[in-house]
Amino acid sequence: MSKIKISLANAREYIRDNEIALFESEVALHRSNIYKKTGMGSDFLGWVDLPAGIDEAQLERIKGDALKMQEQSEVVVVCGIGGSYLGARAVIDALSNPFLALQEKKSRKAPLVLYAGHQLDEDYMVHLLELLDGKDYSVIVISKSGTTTEPALAFRLLKAHLEQKYGEAQAAERIFAVTDGAKGALKKLAAKKGYATYVIPDDVGGRFSVLTPVGLLPIAVAGIDIGQLVEGAREMQAELKQEDKITANPAALYAVARNILYRKGKTTEILAGYTPSLHYLVEWWKQLFGESEGKGQKGIFPAGVSFTTDLHSMGQYIQDGLRNLFETVLTIENPSKALEIPVDPQDLDGLNFLSGKRLGEVNRMASLGTMMAHVDGGVPNIEITIPQLDALNLGGLIYFFEMACAISGYILEVNPFDQPGVEAYKKNMFALLEKPGFEKETEAIRKRM
Ligand code: PA5
Repeated sequence: MSKIKISLANAREYIRDNEIALFESEVALHRSNIYKKTGMGSDFLGWVDLPAGIDEAQLERIKGDALKMQEQSEVVVVCGIGGSYLGARAVIDALSNPFLALQEKKSRKAPLVLYAGHQLDEDYMVHLLELLDGKDYSVIVISKSGTTTEPALAFRLLKAHLEQKYGEAQAAERIFAVTDGAKGALKKLAAKKGYATYVIPDDVGGRFSVLTPVGLLPIAVAGIDIGQLVEGAREMQAELKQEDKITANPAALYAVARNILYRKGKTTEILAGYTPSLHYLVEWWKQLFGESEGKGQKGIFPAGVSFTTDLHSMGQYIQDGLRNLFETVLTIENPSKALEIPVDPQDLDGLNFLSGKRLGEVNRMASLGTMMAHVDGGVPNIEITIPQLDALNLGGLIYFFEMACAISGYILEVNPFDQPGVEAYKKNMFALLEKPGFEKETEAIRKRM
C-alpha cells in the first residue's frame, strides 16, 4: 500500500478513466527511458537510483560533520541558491518547530540554520553579518558549478568574516563545502584552504539533489533524522519502479493527471498546503517543476499558496478569476500535535459549537470545503495525501515529486533536466557589471539603455 495517495475525485469532470488509459503505452515508454537512462537529458538521471545507492559510510560522515557543527556553533549558515538551497530549506522548515529561533539557546537541540547566497540583497547580508558578530557559527557552502554569483559573493563575505573572527586556520574548521568533484572555483578554493568537502554526483542536477550531501548535510545539522529521510525515499523508489500501471503508480498518475488538465487549458497549477510548515516545500516544488518543464514556450506554470492564510488573499482569484487554473492539495492525514478547542462559558465569540474539536479537524473541514468551492468555481483539484509530516514520509514525497516531474516533462516533450533559460539574466548582469570576457555584451547592452 503506497504511503502517498492521489485522489482525482475533485477533478473527475476533467479527467476520465479512459483518458488516463490512453497514456498507458506512452508512460511505459517514458518510464523505460528513465530507468534505462535512454531519454532526453539522460546524463542527469543519477537521482533515479540515488536513494538505494546512498551508503552508510556517507551517511555516517555527514552525521559526524553535522555533530561537529552542532557542538561548535549556535548558528549554521547554509550558503546556496536554487537546487543548492531549496531542498534543504524545504525539509528543515517542514520538520522544525517554527518558533525555534525564539527558544532559549540551551533548550535547542540543534543550531539555528540560517541562509545566505539565495539573493543579492545588501541589507540582508549586513543584518546577517551583524548577527554573526555575536554568535559562534559554521558555514556550509553549496554550489555544484562552484561559480554561481549569488552564493559565491555571499561566501566571500562570510569567509572574510569568519577568518577575521577566528583566524584562517580555525575558520577552515568551520567551513564545509559541497560542490563538483573536479571543477569550479569553489572546488579549487576548498582544496587550497583544506575545507571538509562533499561531492555532488555529476549525473544529479541541482533541483534533483536534495538526497545528496547538498540537502543531507544541512538537514542533519538541523537535527533531522537523515536515515529516515533516505529510507522513505528508498521505499518510494522501490514502489514506483515496480508499479507499471498508471493508476497503481502515484507518480505516473499525478504526471498524467496534470498533463490532461494542461491540454484542456488548465495551464497554471497551484500547489496548496494547509500548514505554514510546507511553505518551502512548495517553493522547492515550484523550482522542480518550473525549471524542469518551462521551456520551448511550453509548460504548466507552478504557483503555490499556503491555506487558509491565502484564502484571504488569493482565494478570490482562485474562486472567480481567469479559469486557467487547477489546484493540487497536499494533505497531511495526521497532524503531529493535538490541540483541543476549549469551552468558553460565556461564548461571546459564538465558537462553542467547535468546543471539544481539535484545531486540525477545523483545518480539515476548511480544506474539504475549499476543495468543493473551488471545484464548483471551475478549478479542478488533485489531492495528494501523506499520513504524517515526518522524515520518512517527506523522503518518499520528495522522490515521488522527482519521478512525477521526469515523467511529466517527457509527456510535455521537453528535456526536464536542463535549464538553458536561466543563463539569459546572468549574461545581462555580467554585461552590466563589465565582467571580463563580456566586453561585446557590455557594449550591446549599453546601446539598449
Ligand atoms: O536546479 C538547478 O540546476 C539550479 O537551480 C541550480 O541548483 C542553481 O542554479 C545553483 O547552481 P549551483 O549549485 O551550480 O550554484
